[in-house]
Amino acid sequence: MNALTLVHETVKKFVKAGDICVDATAGRGYDTAFLASLAGDGCVTAFDIQQEAIDSTRALLASRGLEARLILASHATMDEYFEEGSVSCIMFNLGYLPSGDHSVFTHFESTREAIEKGLKLLKRGGLMCVSVYYGGDSGYEERDALLPYLASLDDGKYQVIMASFYNWKKDPPIPFFIVKL
Ligand SMILES: C[S@@+](CC[C@H](N)C(=O)[O-])C[C@H]1O[C@@H](n2cnc3c(N)ncnc32)[C@H](O)[C@@H]1O
Repeated sequence: MNALTLVHETVKKFVKAGDICVDATAGRGYDTAFLASLAGDGCVTAFDIQQEAIDSTRALLASRGLEARLILASHATMDEYFEEGSVSCIMFNLGYLPSGDHSVFTHFESTREAIEKGLKLLKRGGLMCVSVYYGGDSGYEERDALLPYLASLDDGKYQVIMASFYNWKKDPPIPFFIVKL
């Protein structure tokens, strides 16, 4: 079990064919392709601010015969593309593009804005996954700001579950699962 398999196994329980899903951080496209394989004739939209990530994601989808709408823009614009209460699952995989430019990574302010907007777009019973990755020279500020922010979400509206790799000695990823009640 690692963070990726934990998240994917959970997402499987929330997404069915025909659903609308969002990958907020396309990166190399693995989560976009995973969502597209679950949503079938539904619609998956993926955001990334780097052309390299969009190109990688497009190539991965093509190699697997899958489709998704790819948007070169910040996830903080996601409210321009969906109606409130229409989305089944939104995935965030924070950090930098693997094997890419490590100086470009997610930041708390735009991540928070995107989470807030995403929670409005999510339907009741829908799932948002926020996998917090940090380590090396980046990600600590985002982690330190996200933890209290996610703890502050209204417990009458959202269930926020935090997974911990409890005995991992250095910089364990922190997967969060947010269910809209
Ligand atoms: C850890 S990677 C995502 C990995 C991806 N889910 C995968 O399966 O390969 C994080 C990505 O977030 C992107 N990113 C950074 N800031 C962003 C923003 N404001 N909006 C959308 N994507 C952003 C980076 O360009 C990077 O590609």
